[in-house]
Amino acid sequence: MFPIDRRAVQNIWYPAPDVIPALCAALDDVPADTWNGCATLEELAEAMTPYLEAHGGRREDFVWSMERHFSEPYGPLPKATRTFFAGIPDMFLAHAADDDGVERIAGPRQYDGSADLPDDYREWLEKLFYAHGECMVPLFGEEAKDVGSMYEIIDEKIIRQAPNATGRLRFSNFANEELRHTFLFYELYSAYDPQLPHKIHQHELEVFRAYMEVKTDGTWLDYAIFNMLADRLGTYQAFEWVQSSYAPLAGVALKIVKDERGHCNMGYLNVRDFLESSDETGRAHVQKRLDEHFYPFHMAAFGGENSRNSEMWRRMGLKQHSNEKLRYAYHTEMQQVLDSLDLTAPDYDDAKTRGLEAAAALKKAAA
Ligand SMILES: [Fe+2]
Repeated sequence: MFPIDRRAVQNIWYPAPDVIPALCAALDDVPADTWNGCATLEELAEAMTPYLEAHGGRREDFVWSMERHFSEPYGPLPKATRTFFAGIPDMFLAHAADDDGVERIAGPRQYDGSADLPDDYREWLEKLFYAHGECMVPLFGEEAKDVGSMYEIIDEKIIRQAPNATGRLRFSNFANEELRHTFLFYELYSAYDPQLPHKIHQHELEVFRAYMEVKTDGTWLDYAIFNMLADRLGTYQAFEWVQSSYAPLAGVALKIVKDERGHCNMGYLNVRDFLESSDETGRAHVQKRLDEHFYPFHMAAFGGENSRNSEMWRRMGLKQHSNEKLRYAYHTEMQQVLDSLDLTAPDYDDAKTRGLEAAAALKKAAA
């Protein structure tokens, strides 16, 4: 008996940003007995193949779409095999050892709520809240009336450019999930201090963030490349909190990691659709945008090598890995992503240097 109900799969796939409607349609065709008679995902993928082919769906898409929603820690399937589409890399699932010279003074989920926190821990936890903001609008209720999200104007422009119904459905699902993230952070901040969402919102209006300057050219394609890289960056940031010493953040992180996987998959699928329908000029354009613009900025977004904040957050168990370690893990995953699209990841050191220089120049210009 396959451990996941066929109808539940469809109900979860349709509202996801990386929905592939051909897979959903194939689910309608497969007899319940055939589905239920499979013991493993491999066996199921084999049994599904004729139904997938009838709808133009791909077997590998079926496998990762199942793994993304139903592999551990989210469901009964074993660990995901299509790693860049689904799952959490091992380095984020164990509490990081202090092999980087930083002594950890708090373990995973050690503090459950805002009461009785040591003073220095409280200070660095609040710094973390402000650093990540979970920007957009951490406001709801009366306070949020007439306050727009900083993404809603962009989102509206992008969704209108969707090349087809699938693109529009994906983007609408994506915007919906981002709002849910804002809600989850609003709840977390409010529980810590009812005034905190308001204070963070004020801070977000004033602070300069180099990564917010990673502009797209306003087209659907550029936004797809951006999602493939930027939402993966969000995934990597949230991976760091899965073992957070602040239990409420660890709980939220697991949900966000899952969603952000879907957001970068959406970018991936939109880029893949473009590449498959374009010629070599289109492919060269995507490679150029990566090389010259998006890749260096995303390398820089992990921060400097000797960040004092990163060191203190690791000490408090609020982050697990150094900026450099995280940046390299991201680059390793991006190499697999781009390989699978027949694109090439830029050289690590060169892209990082160019990105950090560009971010420093932007900061100087903004000062
Ligand atoms: Fe996202």
